[in-house]
Amino acid sequence: MPGPPGVRVDRATSLTPITTCRVVRRPTYDRRVATLPRPSPAAVTRVCLAALVANMAIVLTGALVRLTGSGLGCPTWPKCAGSSYVNTPEYGMHGVIEFGNRSLTVVLAVVVAACIVLTVLQRPRRRDLVALSWALFAGIVGQAVLGGITVRTHLNPWTVAAHFLLSMVLIAVAATLVIRSRKSGGTLSVQPLPRGLGLAVTGLTAAVLVLGTLVTGSGPHAGDSSAARTGFDPATVTHLHAAAVMALVALTVATLVALRVTGGPGRAQRAAAVLLGLELAQGAVGYLQYLTGVPVVLVAVHVAGACLVWLAAVSLALRMGPIPDATLADRQPVSVTTEASSTA
Ligand code: HEM
Repeated sequence: MPGPPGVRVDRATSLTPITTCRVVRRPTYDRRVATLPRPSPAAVTRVCLAALVANMAIVLTGALVRLTGSGLGCPTWPKCAGSSYVNTPEYGMHGVIEFGNRSLTVVLAVVVAACIVLTVLQRPRRRDLVALSWALFAGIVGQAVLGGITVRTHLNPWTVAAHFLLSMVLIAVAATLVIRSRKSGGTLSVQPLPRGLGLAVTGLTAAVLVLGTLVTGSGPHAGDSSAARTGFDPATVTHLHAAAVMALVALTVATLVALRVTGGPGRAQRAAAVLLGLELAQGAVGYLQYLTGVPVVLVAVHVAGACLVWLAAVSLALRMGPIPDATLADRQPVSVTTEASSTA
């Protein structure tokens, strides 16, 4: 005989007197999860977009820390100064700026935690989106640790560069999340030649970013007047950086032409055209700042431009191929096991 709702009667003992009947209460976890609201695909995209914007914002506040010489505004880590986790008046405006940058990490972590929750709750669940959200979270934890190493090594230029480049990886992951959350499935309609060129453009953009951090690590904007430099000649690394940019512009033009000639999809052509425009604008800012003695305002614009160029390069790569669908979607329906059905 079935028991009351929510209660399962063990059949092995169901004929024994009611006083000895073994009653097993099933965990209600599954049912609770099943009754949680399901986010719409648009809501998932919005929160992933927020994670992307937050990642780009933290690169800019990081640049602000460096450009105002506030790198050691909080001289210790994880505490800010002495026994205090927050900035103290003793460290003035530098402390406020550096602590503000650290605090933004918490905001970023909250936004990314929301990404994880929403992608887990979404139905059908997209395992690729869940995995990317977790990767973003792991990257933020890594950034917090790397930021601490940067402070403890007194702004070593190599750790400063690694800190910047890990942010670029996180921007790429967040951009992938946004684009994949908006679409799933699709056929590959980009020919191998433009596809190869497009992927090479993204790879070369990454190399330009690495060379850019070498220029910064060799120049005057260290984040603190006493911080060590790479020891490279700033003019030489700047010329290398600029030469890589010229190769990048040429390769992007070649990709655009190859896409046009082979009748590549409009979204890929637009992505290549946007990237080309951003590269030219960023290159102009780069030359201007170099010729005017790297004034902080132009350097800040250049950092913002680097984020946009990288975002456009990642978007181009993502538009060169299909977005996986069936292979990555977890299509298991949510099973709502009622107690009555489980004992039937
Ligand atoms: C697609 C074009 C370009 C990209 C994506 C790019 C990217 C970057 C990046 C990521 C940095 C390091 C920022 C940091 O560590 O905070 C940088 C620094 C720099 N770039 Fe570029 N760059 C580009 C073009 C150029 C060009 C054409 C020049 C011309 C010479 C140039 C000159 C510089 C200089 C002087 C710095 C050091 C700024 C400082 O003192 O911090 N860049 N660039």
